[in-house]
Parts: sequence; C-alpha cells; structure tokens
Amino acid sequence: MAAIPSPIPLEDSWTDVLQKALNGTGIDDKNLAPSANITPAKLKSILAGEIPSEDTLRRLAIGLGLRPAPFLDLAFQRYKPALFDAGTWTGVQPIASRYMDAIVNCYLIWDVKTREAILCDTGTDLSAVRQEIETRGLKLTTLCITHAHGDHVAILQELKLAYSPKIYAPKEEPVDGSSGVGEGDEIQIGSLRARVLLTDGHSAGHVTYLFTGQSGWPAPVAVVGDVLFAGSMGAGNVSYPRLRDHLQSKILTLPPKTLLCPGHGPTSTVEQEEKQNPFG
Ligand SMILES: [Fe+2]
Repeated sequence: MAAIPSPIPLEDSWTDVLQKALNGTGIDDKNLAPSANITPAKLKSILAGEIPSEDTLRRLAIGLGLRPAPFLDLAFQRYKPALFDAGTWTGVQPIASRYMDAIVNCYLIWDVKTREAILCDTGTDLSAVRQEIETRGLKLTTLCITHAHGDHVAILQELKLAYSPKIYAPKEEPVDGSSGVGEGDEIQIGSLRARVLLTDGHSAGHVTYLFTGQSGWPAPVAVVGDVLFAGSMGAGNVSYPRLRDHLQSKILTLPPKTLLCPGHGPTSTVEQEEKQNPFG
C-alpha cells in the first residue's frame, strides 16, 4: 500500500471545487459557459484540468457563487496551509490512513492531565491508533463519530473489541452501540468538553464536535468531518445549500484561531479558511 504523503496534500483541486459547485448548484454547464464568456467545449476542457486565464476563472467562480480570490489561489497553487503545530495544540494528534485510493483522517484528542482520550472518527489503521495510545500512555474511553460513511467508521468493531469505548454518533446516523447526539449536546471527558453542532448536508445527520477545556489551547478544536476541507468542502450529497450554509454560519464564525480538523486533507484554522476557502 502506498505510503501516506507528508505533509498531507489538499484534498481538493480547483477542478474538484468547480465540479462540486456545478453538481451542487445544479447550474447547467450550457448556462455557465456563456456567462463565463467561453464555449461549452472550452468549459469541458477546463473541467478536465486545462487552466484558463485568470479572467475566465474569475467569471466561472462568480457564475457558480464561489469566492473568486480563494478559487484563483487554488488554481494557481498559491494556497499552502500552515502545518499542524503539535506544540500549540497539546493533546491533539491527527492520524491519516488509507481507504481504498483515498486518505482519511481520524483525530486522537486527550486530556493532558488525566490522559483520558477520545478518538474522533476511526480511520482505517488500528495499529497506528494503538501505537499513539500506548506511546503516550493514554486511556481511550470515547469515540466521537462525525458521520457514518464507511471511511469514517471503518474499524469501529476492532476499536470496540480493543477498548470498549463509549460511542457517540449523530442521532440520524447511528452506528453499532452508539448514543445519538445532536445540536447543543455536550460530552464531558476529563476536563475536556465537546459541544455538538449539527452540520448536515454532506450526510443526513453529520455533526461537528467542538472541543474546549485544555489549558494552553489558544482557541477551540473543531472536528469538522466532511463539512469543510482546507480550501474546499465535502460533497453536498444530501443538500449543497445546507452544507455550505453550515460551513459559513457555524464553522467560519468560530473564533479565528480555532483549529479545524477535517476528515480529509490537512488541518486548518478559521482565519486561514476565511481567507482561502472558495465556499466560505
Ligand atoms: Fe463522508
């Protein structure tokens, strides 16, 4: 199996963003092409990866309701997200693993005093999770699932067998043995508190877990699953407008330094995504 690249690259290219916006808005490419002042054939080759002029890219972004400046930065590879800073975010460890031809993240978050730990989503690599738990002397007590797509719950049974954790998952997307959570619920683990935000749209009941309570953190830690990716967002499988509205109204309104922990791609912050996310 191919090694996980380090640093983890952006999940979505500018063409992925374009395609998600086309699918989500339902804007027909025959309508989009004239508003961007190009032929349908030209749009087709752009969707296949041909980078057009800045002016055309800007028109396409506007035609699809995307923010032009971050979209241009993606297309011209000017967006380089800051690397995850383990020194600042004590008690947070992203773990990336392979799921078929994709990479999926899970996040180990722990109370640095009591060593009680939460795993947010499961990833696919039990030995990587076990290694982090053992080398750091943690006690995994809790599993917080953002949504029930296969790549986010791939090793649920193995984790249940190994650690018998308390499992939380969205009310609308129960997993085996889970307690359902929804908007406004709170979970206490040691001195950490996770507030649940309903951020559906990618899936029917997708939730975000907003962690606070670790002394030394400059801001909360938001495990956002597939709501937001650095420079993009998940697919609007259930509702593109709802997903985008949640990204804008519930994620990008968090304190600027909030650490954003997406299900795919690198970590980011609210202030970075305010500047760089075409869906923001
Ligand atoms: Fe998903």
